[in-house]
Amino acid sequence: MAPALKHFLQFKDFSRDELEYLFVRTRVIKERFKRYQPYHPLADRTLAMIFEKSSTRTRLSFEAGMHQLGGSAIYLNTRDTQLGRGEPVEDAAEVISRMVDVVMIRTYEQDIIERFAAHSRVPVINGLTNEYHPCQILADIYTYIEQRGPIQGKTVAWIGDSNNMCNTWLQAAEVLDFNVHVSTPPGYEVEPERAGLFGTDHYEAFVDPMDACRGADLVTTDVWTSMGFEAESASRMKAFADWRVDNDMMRVAADAALFMHCLPAHRGEEVEADVIDGPQSVVWKEAENRLHTQKAMLEYLLRGRIED
Ligand code: CP
Ligand code: NVA
Repeated sequence: MAPALKHFLQFKDFSRDELEYLFVRTRVIKERFKRYQPYHPLADRTLAMIFEKSSTRTRLSFEAGMHQLGGSAIYLNTRDTQLGRGEPVEDAAEVISRMVDVVMIRTYEQDIIERFAAHSRVPVINGLTNEYHPCQILADIYTYIEQRGPIQGKTVAWIGDSNNMCNTWLQAAEVLDFNVHVSTPPGYEVEPERAGLFGTDHYEAFVDPMDACRGADLVTTDVWTSMGFEAESASRMKAFADWRVDNDMMRVAADAALFMHCLPAHRGEEVEADVIDGPQSVVWKEAENRLHTQKAMLEYLLRGRIED
């Protein structure tokens, strides 16, 4: 029997129990893949991937993941579909969801993906919006657990922009019960409502990024200018100059602290090369785990819980 229709539009769309299941499942799927053991639970299933913004990792991990699970993936973008010529998103959802089994969308406002999902017959996955990047945080948390054990009770230091990645870390902290120390330049503070937060129990704001990093188990950052905000790039370069993750910040973090970045990165801007290319960085593992966590997500949305 097909599982009930479920979407992954924000991190908190999944309960802690579901996320813990996905992390267990990710390990099984990853180990099978590493042993070259074929596993095709999604034979004959098709994923449509709709991109309104650029991507390397998200496209590749979803497309390769579907193939590896026995299904197929179709890439669509706004430039050469009717979406770019003003077809209502609701109409596109009605049509596309009659032809495929699952849809992944990378777009601008969260409202677009919410509207698509409201008219979709099949699961919809957020592949990044201006507000959230839940697939990336799923991979990041899996990577933390894989490298260091449970994340519950740990402290993540977020340095830089209060963007889609920051919002999603904050939501994840509420669902999985860890803490986030946030340091953003003045004028770029977290907007709790936009981040979709229930309260302030799981995060604390710091003026000085060094204070945010003190004792942290994980230090993470992202580009100063996200896709869609390019017009603000020059003013952001000035505003964010002191929010570059460097070795001084890593030194005040916990001894076993990891460094993460969703990539693509700009060495010398949001992070020094010594840090991202240094011994505490797990950025390649994070990128690799996009493949495995998303395969677990696709399997769960299309097949439900599997106990083999
Ligand atoms: N981290 C991430 O989502 O990368 P892409 O923009 O390359 O998909
Ligand atoms: N915050 C970045 C993440 C890119 C993967 C952006 O939205 O451009």
